[in-house]
Amino acid sequence: MKEIKIFSPATVANVSCGFDVLGFCLNSVGDEMIVRKTQDKGIKITKIEGYDLPYDTNLNVAGVSAQALYDHANPDCGFEIEINKKIKPGSGIGSSSASAAGSVFAINELLGKPYNKTELTAFAMKGEAVASKSEHADNIAPALFGGFTLVKSLEPLEILQIPTPDALHAVIVHPKIEIKTSEARAILPKEIPLKDAITQWSNVGSLIHALHTKNYDLICKSLNDVVAEPYRSKLIPYFEKTKNAALEAGALGSGISGSGPSIFTLCKGVVSARKIETVIRSIYNKSDLEFDTYISKINYRGIKIID
Ligand code: HSE
Repeated sequence: MKEIKIFSPATVANVSCGFDVLGFCLNSVGDEMIVRKTQDKGIKITKIEGYDLPYDTNLNVAGVSAQALYDHANPDCGFEIEINKKIKPGSGIGSSSASAAGSVFAINELLGKPYNKTELTAFAMKGEAVASKSEHADNIAPALFGGFTLVKSLEPLEILQIPTPDALHAVIVHPKIEIKTSEARAILPKEIPLKDAITQWSNVGSLIHALHTKNYDLICKSLNDVVAEPYRSKLIPYFEKTKNAALEAGALGSGISGSGPSIFTLCKGVVSARKIETVIRSIYNKSDLEFDTYISKINYRGIKIID
C-alpha cells in the first residue's frame, strides 16, 4: 500500500467530571487526510484545505506527531501528508488531536502496523503538546480507540476502553468564538479543595460504573464538574442557559466539550437528541453569534480508512 485516505473524528474530552482523563469519540464530524509514501525520506505536509495552518512540519500538529513516529521507526522511505481540515481549530472538539492522531494512524497503516494504539497515542501526544502547550491524551485516545476512553496514567501511558451504552447520543453546539486550550488551562486554579476533589472522583467513579452497567439514571447523576466548569463556563456565551435548557428538555447531562467553546449534551436516543438540538438552536438563533450544531452517536471505531 502506497497511499491511504482516512477519516479522523472529532472528540469530546473531560466529559464533565473526567478532566484530562475521560473522552469519547463522535462520528458526524472529522477531518480527512491522505498520506502517501515517498522515495524521499522525511515528513512533508503538501496540502492543507479548510483552515490556514502551518506547512512547516515542526509547527503543524500532524507533522510533529508524524515526525515523532518517523524518528522512532526510521523507515527507508518518507511520507507526504494532505489535510482536509473540517474541524475548526480552537472549537473544543479535538481539532488538533484529530490531526495529530490521523497522521500517525495513517503512517502506521502504511508501514504494516508496527505500533499498537497506545504507542500511537504517545506519538500523537507530541503533536497535541504543540497546540495546547501541555501533554494530555483525553482527545487523542478516543480518536484512536473509539468509544469512551479513560487515560489511566501518562507514565507509563495506559488507556482503558470503557463500554458505551447503545442508545447514548451526543448533541454538540459550537458557538464560533475561539478559546485556546492553553488559555483555558491557565485560568484554572492549581489546587482544589478536598471537598471538591471528593465530589469529582465520586462522579468519575460512578460515571464509569454507569457506562459499564448501562445505567442512564446514574450517567445523569454523574455528569457534574466542580473543577473546571465553574471557571471556564464564563468564557462561553449562553453556557448556563444552554445547559439548563438541555436538561429541561430531557438531557442526561451537559457540559463544556474539552476546553470549549463547544458544549456537549449526552442523551438517550436520537429523538431526544433532535429535541435537545432544536432547543439549543433556538437559544443561539436569538444571538448574533454564528454557531453549528451536530448530533452524533458515539463512534465505537475511531479513526477509519475511507475510499
Ligand atoms: N483536558 C483538556 C482540557 C482537553 O480540558 O484542557 C482540551 O481539549
